[in-house]
Amino acid sequence: MITHADGVYLYDSEGAKLLDGMAGLWCTQLGYGNDELVEAATTAMKTLPYYNLFFNTSTPSATELAAKIAEKTPGDISRIFFACSGSEAVDSAYKLVKYYWNLKGQPERKQFIAREGGYHGSTTVAASLTGLSGMHPQFDLPLEGIHHVGPMPCYFTNGAGMTEEEFTDKCVKALEDKILEIGPEKVAAFVGEPVLGAGGMRPPPVGYWPKVEALCRKHGILLWADEVICGWGRTGNWFGSQTYGITPDIITMAKGMSSGYMPISAVGLGGDIAETIANSDEEMVHGFTYSGHPVACAVALKNIEILERDGLVGEPAKDRMDYFQTRIQTLEDHPLVGEVRSIGWLGALEIVQNKSTRKIFDSDLNVGFRCREHCFNNGLVMRSVGDTMIICPPLIISKEEIDELVEKARYALDRTLDELGTMEVKIA
Ligand SMILES: Cc1ncc(COP(=O)(O)O)c(C=O)c1O
Repeated sequence: MITHADGVYLYDSEGAKLLDGMAGLWCTQLGYGNDELVEAATTAMKTLPYYNLFFNTSTPSATELAAKIAEKTPGDISRIFFACSGSEAVDSAYKLVKYYWNLKGQPERKQFIAREGGYHGSTTVAASLTGLSGMHPQFDLPLEGIHHVGPMPCYFTNGAGMTEEEFTDKCVKALEDKILEIGPEKVAAFVGEPVLGAGGMRPPPVGYWPKVEALCRKHGILLWADEVICGWGRTGNWFGSQTYGITPDIITMAKGMSSGYMPISAVGLGGDIAETIANSDEEMVHGFTYSGHPVACAVALKNIEILERDGLVGEPAKDRMDYFQTRIQTLEDHPLVGEVRSIGWLGALEIVQNKSTRKIFDSDLNVGFRCREHCFNNGLVMRSVGDTMIICPPLIISKEEIDELVEKARYALDRTLDELGTMEVKIA
């Protein structure tokens, strides 16, 4: 039981203090116990605890937040639709894309392409777009009209006798083949996370995103960046799309937008989509009771103000961010670590049985989960995705706390190695 928290530390019901190396669930950019966010929520609660955005009404905090998001996002994102979770934002974007193509007189454009290994949430559409096959069979998913394309960038495929550039070309060709197979005039949008997050923190191979953007432009397909994890400073810039030099037509966002203090998400719509929908004669029949909740918007606004004011994104944060990356890189010498990946404030340790042959452990051994348990038992939260250990700390983490995180991660890896030793599992 996690009972309370402060700064980058969580405290549990047994009295243990844990360094939160996962920012909650990729979301507490400002860490815990931020009084300014609490104050913003309290003031908003007292002023206007609730109103909705239906029937031609709005609220000052929703309007101000929409303007702030438009300012921070790349390209011409100009109108914002609010929701309460990443999944709701994804479902909303899917509907808005369909509506857009209907308004444009291209109703045949209804096929969506997402990526193998991508995660987009757990509502019906979001889970369908998710490219983790384990998410589908229980619920008869994916929905029709949703396609997935590989290969997923990973330690093993990248190493399969290919340069990174060759791997990029292989991924882009696979996408083009899929577009041609479906019929370019039928493809509504391509959606991807700038960095595959819940699928194992896998940054794209070099040059991937600009080539994907060019391909989408060539075929008139909308480019949709799901920035639920990558947005709000996580990759070192305000948005992952800026880190990878692309200007998507649609951006979905949540998590770090309010540092997780309030549930809020948004869909940012680029100029043509925004204006096409706004200029339509009919009312758009989509929205939620809590869309643009005034308390959540006030907290998100304060959160963004603090990220800006305290230099937690971009150049002012670079020194600490570089330190984070350099320090976690040192773990690559550990006998269990085949690769350390990092971008911005995201890190991943790939645990392997044989570093030279890149052999992975038998999945029945649950090595990643064992390592996670050793983390938890020794004062650190890292998440395991298979045998990949994920690191995603609050953006406020200090250099001393980064040192502590790395020491504790090494300690947990050592204990995992000991445990495998007692089980007589061979490590090379
Ligand atoms: C990229 C991405 N999209 C969507 C979601 C779904 O967000 P939520 O869990 O808030 O519905 C997540 C959640 O981790 C995510 O990482």
